Amino acid sequence: MRRLAEYARVDLWDDDAPPPRAELIRRSRACDAILTMVSDRIDAAFIRQTSRLRVVSNLAVGLDNIDLDFATRAGVAVGHTPGVLAETTAELAIALMFAVARRVVEADRFVRARRWRMWTPRLMLGRDLAGSTLGIIGFGSIGQAVARRAAALGMNVIYAPHRGRPKSRSARGGTELSASSPGANPVPLARLLAESDFISLNVPLTTETRGMIGPEEFAAMKRGAILINTARGAVVDQKAMIDALRSGRLGGAGLDVLETEPIAPDDPLLKFANVAITPHIGSASHRTRQRMAELAVDNILDVFAGRRPRCCANPKVRLRKIAAGRARSNRVR
Ligand code: GLV
Repeated sequence: MRRLAEYARVDLWDDDAPPPRAELIRRSRACDAILTMVSDRIDAAFIRQTSRLRVVSNLAVGLDNIDLDFATRAGVAVGHTPGVLAETTAELAIALMFAVARRVVEADRFVRARRWRMWTPRLMLGRDLAGSTLGIIGFGSIGQAVARRAAALGMNVIYAPHRGRPKSRSARGGTELSASSPGANPVPLARLLAESDFISLNVPLTTETRGMIGPEEFAAMKRGAILINTARGAVVDQKAMIDALRSGRLGGAGLDVLETEPIAPDDPLLKFANVAITPHIGSASHRTRQRMAELAVDNILDVFAGRRPRCCANPKVRLRKIAAGRARSNRVR
């Protein structure tokens, strides 16, 4: 806020709940730039109604809330925050693996329910990460950061790269699709599904990846595999996942993201003891959120300075300049 206020009048939506759509459109009409959250839907209808807009800066690496092609055609630059959140998100993926494999959340509930009577040799038996095979679907900067950690834990790491939309040019080390990760071997998806004890999803949500883990993929998994999703809920067919949990084909799941967020109070997933759910907090560390905020601001200030955002998701966009008079009138000092 401080940095932006040096250059522009800032209209802040000061509420954790996202602005109602009509309100977001109404207020964005007066803006040259908006800084958005993943919960703000920036689609063609939105962009059509906000013709003054020159840049949308998303406080996220994921871009599934933004119609990138339409923004490009409309001359709206889109910025995002790759690179800076990869390590933090990978840490959560590993935390979820431990949580499910070693039943950490379930064990905590057990203790709080005053059910811990004595030590017994078979109490809360779980599964080892060391010696298990981890299959990573999507091998961008987050998938690679998961691989490094898993290899250090003694896991056998395989991965199936996902080739989707070309990634932005990241100034901060987003090395998407570079296949260099010592100790991790690329395999076809079918082999990954058949051999993995743990599967970590690390793909962006695109038209190609929506529902990519469905009934057939669950059926092809090793019996008892554990699925970790820190990507986007809609990459998984949630109904198929519930069926797979019921049948035991899926041995557990660690989910930071869901098809519908927040989760509905009656969602069947809440009933499974072998499912750990976190509220979309993959990048939620103090340091990483600060870095994301700085980068989201940099992306906007780049456009104010007549350049593309340094982390531009649509580098082919033809930037429309912000009229000099307007920029001056925007200045607060
Ligand atoms: C968060 O979900 C992100 O895409 O950065």
